[in-house]
Order: sequence, then C-alpha cells, then structure tokens
Amino acid sequence: MRLDKYLADMGIGTRSEVKQHIHKGLVSVNGALPTGPNQHVQPGADEIFYQGEPVSYQEYEYFMLNKPQGCVSAVTDPQHQTVLDLIDKKNRKDLFPVGRLDRDTEGLLLITNNGRLCHNLLAPGKHVPKTYFARISGNVTDEDTAQFAKGINIGEQRDTLPAELQILSHDGTFSEITLTITEGKFHQVKRMFQAVGKEVVYLKRISMGNLKLDESLQPGEYRQLTEEEIRLLGQTKENTKRC
Ligand code: URA
Repeated sequence: MRLDKYLADMGIGTRSEVKQHIHKGLVSVNGALPTGPNQHVQPGADEIFYQGEPVSYQEYEYFMLNKPQGCVSAVTDPQHQTVLDLIDKKNRKDLFPVGRLDRDTEGLLLITNNGRLCHNLLAPGKHVPKTYFARISGNVTDEDTAQFAKGINIGEQRDTLPAELQILSHDGTFSEITLTITEGKFHQVKRMFQAVGKEVVYLKRISMGNLKLDESLQPGEYRQLTEEEIRLLGQTKENTKRC
C-alpha cells in the first residue's frame, strides 16, 4: 500500500495534505524519512509515525451506537444530525450505518466500513433476525402473537415472514412487547402493529443477528465492538428456522 493512502485512510488528512506532511518531514517509516508519498508500506509490519506518534493501520472499524431519537441513519444529511456525526472518535472516513432505523427509533445500530459484513446482515435472502422492544398503544393480545407468527398483510405483495411477538406487560392502555423479525421492510414494525389496529409509541432495536445492544450505552453513546462481538457477527447465520 502507498504511504499516502495508509495515512489518509487513518484520518491523518486528505491525500494532498498527507503528501505535504510527508514532504515537510513529519512522517517516518521504520525510523527513517520516507522516500516520498508513493513509498510502499506494509500495514502491520512497518512502523509508521506521524509527528512522533505511531499510526497503526485498521482496515475495518466497527462501532455499536445506541442511536438516539432525532438523528437520521445516514452518512450525511443537509438538515438533520446523522448517526455518523455522533461517532467523533473514528479513523476511517468510509464508515456507514448498517441499515436504517427511523428517525424516532432508538437502539442498536452497527457502524462500519466492512461492506461484506453489511451485505451478509442486510441482504433480503439472509433473513437475519432483528429484535425490537416496543411500547404499543392498545392491548396486544395472544391473537396478535398468532397472526404475527403466521404472517400478515402490511400492504406489500407478500405477507410478512413469520415473526415472534412476546408480550411483556400491559396495563390496559399500553403494552410492552419484543418482536423479532427477519426482514427489513420500510417501517416494518410500525406497519405490522398498524395492520392489527395498534400504534407503536416507542421503538428500540435491541439485537441484530448475534449482536446485542450494550445496555450500558445511553442513547447517543457508542463504543467499538470487542473482538468477540466482531467474531460472533461474522458467524451470524441465516435464520433458516423461521421463528
Ligand atoms: N421498524 C420500524 O417501523 N421502524 C424502524 O426504525 C425499524 C423497524
């Protein structure tokens, strides 16, 4: 890999800024001044320093964000704060959110630059399970559970795939539930409840594939995934069992 790409990938500056840093002698490779921006370096083997600080190379970055309400699941947006705006301690500039949560939905959002992992989690044929906690206006019933398990019409060409609805509590006015779905249709959870005459008043994603939201993260907080979480995510299997 070229030295200027290595440094630009790691957020030291744009390619042209990095070239200037190299020409000014601010960069060293294995203790010596590099021959130029196009010097070949080997991530993981060569020791690269910028202004005396080591710069190690990370091909992929993975963050778990507890998405707060009010921000959009996008990289940039002309009007609203984005989920990427919240990740201030990042190296890579090519990060993106894996899928979308509505602006008023909270919870687990994976942010990475690993396109293959993203595809494996989101491709429609993969049926990766996603679990949501929701507060519903109305009394969610065992009949709703049975209907969701069978699949219901939300105005798409096909009924929804079988989904697992668990009723946690209800007090006559509101119900608290978890719902696991294996698709990602637009506003799917809200539309499923609409189809049975109820309204989602609060929605939070709590898991996606093998990744669970770290409940110590407050809305708006994030952390890097652990090595174990990255490994488990890579092992996320298609949900062939179909709830
Ligand atoms: N279903 C919804 O209705 N909204 C979301 O944000 C995610 C799933």
